[in-house]
Amino acid sequence: MRTPIMAGNWKMNKNPEETQAFLDGVKGKLPESSKVQTVIAAPAIDLTTLVAGANGTPLQTAAENCYFEDAGAFTGETSPKALKDMGLDYVVIGHSERRGYFHETDQDINKKAKAILKNGLLPIICCGESLEQREAGQTNDWVASQVEAALAGISAEDVKNSVIAYEPIWAIGTGKTASADQAQEVVAHIRSIVAKLYDAATADAVRILYGGSVKPANVKELMAKPDIDGGLVGGASMDPESFVALANYQ
Ligand code: G3P
Repeated sequence: MRTPIMAGNWKMNKNPEETQAFLDGVKGKLPESSKVQTVIAAPAIDLTTLVAGANGTPLQTAAENCYFEDAGAFTGETSPKALKDMGLDYVVIGHSERRGYFHETDQDINKKAKAILKNGLLPIICCGESLEQREAGQTNDWVASQVEAALAGISAEDVKNSVIAYEPIWAIGTGKTASADQAQEVVAHIRSIVAKLYDAATADAVRILYGGSVKPANVKELMAKPDIDGGLVGGASMDPESFVALANYQ
């Protein structure tokens, strides 16, 4: 059985003081990680506060991006090695905002995934189609190509521990959630791609999340679907009460 994950992605929101206020707000209210794993992905500037506050609680921590080199002359970038040294657990990569605004390619994302795994962190690999692609019937092929490129050269063992997040771009921050059936359909397709690339055991083990306007009001319906193992939540993850409600969806 796959342990569900409820992950928040704060994007470019909150400073360290606001991060501390969030941590104070969720303290003692999150489920045990054997039941539902909870993760917050925060801006780099908040990670010291986040890691310190999560220490000794069930909350796990994630960066929202990293580079694929361990160190060097890469002004403005964050090294996966330094993130590991800080005590982070996960790194979100391939978010559609990074692909769109910052021109990240499938190849960059693959290099980042490898660097993250090499450093003992786990990647949360995002994929998802635009509205035009969905309307043109290209969703499955597009998402399959993103997943295949991101996982190229990564071992089955590493894939089993990794997380994939399906985030249709048209559902992000729009209030327009994919229906639970739409989300299940693509998430099941992603699992079948992992089975094709690796084997049934790997496909059964990898956690696949849905992201796009997940909130306390729709989380239960999404989580009732057999292939959806959790949520990657933007807006509704920033308020402690709402994140606690999401994490305790059961
Ligand atoms: O990574 C989370 C995400 O892009 C979804 O954002 O605000 O629609 O939950 P939101």
